Amino acid sequence: MIVDIQNLEFRWQPDDPPVLRIPALQLAAGEHLFVQGPSGSGKSTLLGLLAGVTTASSGSVRVLDRALEQLGRVERDHFRADHVGYIFQLFNLLPFLSVMDNVLLPCRFSRRRRERARQSAGTLAGEARRLLGQLDLDHPQLHGRAVTTLSVGQQQRVAAARALMGAPELVIADEPTSALDAHRREAFIRLLFDECRRVGATLVFVSHDAALEPLFDRSLTLSGDQQAVAA
Ligand SMILES: Nc1ncnc2c1ncn2[C@@H]1O[C@H](COP(=O)(O)OP(=O)(O)O)[C@@H](O)[C@H]1O
Ligand SMILES: [Mg+2]
Repeated sequence: MIVDIQNLEFRWQPDDPPVLRIPALQLAAGEHLFVQGPSGSGKSTLLGLLAGVTTASSGSVRVLDRALEQLGRVERDHFRADHVGYIFQLFNLLPFLSVMDNVLLPCRFSRRRRERARQSAGTLAGEARRLLGQLDLDHPQLHGRAVTTLSVGQQQRVAAARALMGAPELVIADEPTSALDAHRREAFIRLLFDECRRVGATLVFVSHDAALEPLFDRSLTLSGDQQAVAA
């Protein structure tokens, strides 16, 4: 099991009501989960828990058989660097780095991801070029450019390549398509699916756009009243 959530409750402050309550959620290797719900319903909070940025107030979030709430902050940082690819809502690309250096970034923090990238393509740069090519960014002159000179759609694909670099087991994406129009949204998701399948990654994809749900194997709806509904 890649993800195993049991009796999860999360509150930002001990005396606050929970912003998130998930009785049970299991994800096997390679599954693609769609997480939907209105703004403020806890979608980003759930991703933060899966990445070990925050930990459960009660209950458990196990990823790759490790209960994240039992790890210290430094251990969770290492765990995330090794095993989780994160595509942020605003991409979080480093503006002073080139496209290539942004994609190589996860390898700076994880020997495991360096090794897996080398296994895939021989060299780190080779794997970065392969991923960028798969995501329709295959012009070598583009790879040396500052990311800020790219279009929003291109930056989003750089962010996806970075998340996939070194084949993390879990890829999580926080509304990565909200800046795109409908047909480019779907095209991006299909590229993301293809690459997740290739590396065998489990994908958790958050969006408030219910029209994307049919593309996914499974979905989870956060209603905002602390009741999660799994399908
Ligand atoms: N760092 C934080 N500290 C305190 N409250 C937060 C923080 N981040 C989010 N919240 C609150 O938690 C709830 C869920 O937020 P969030 O997970 O960002 O929702 P979504 O991603 O579905 O829009 C909201 O009420 C939000 O205001
Ligand atoms: Mg959010």
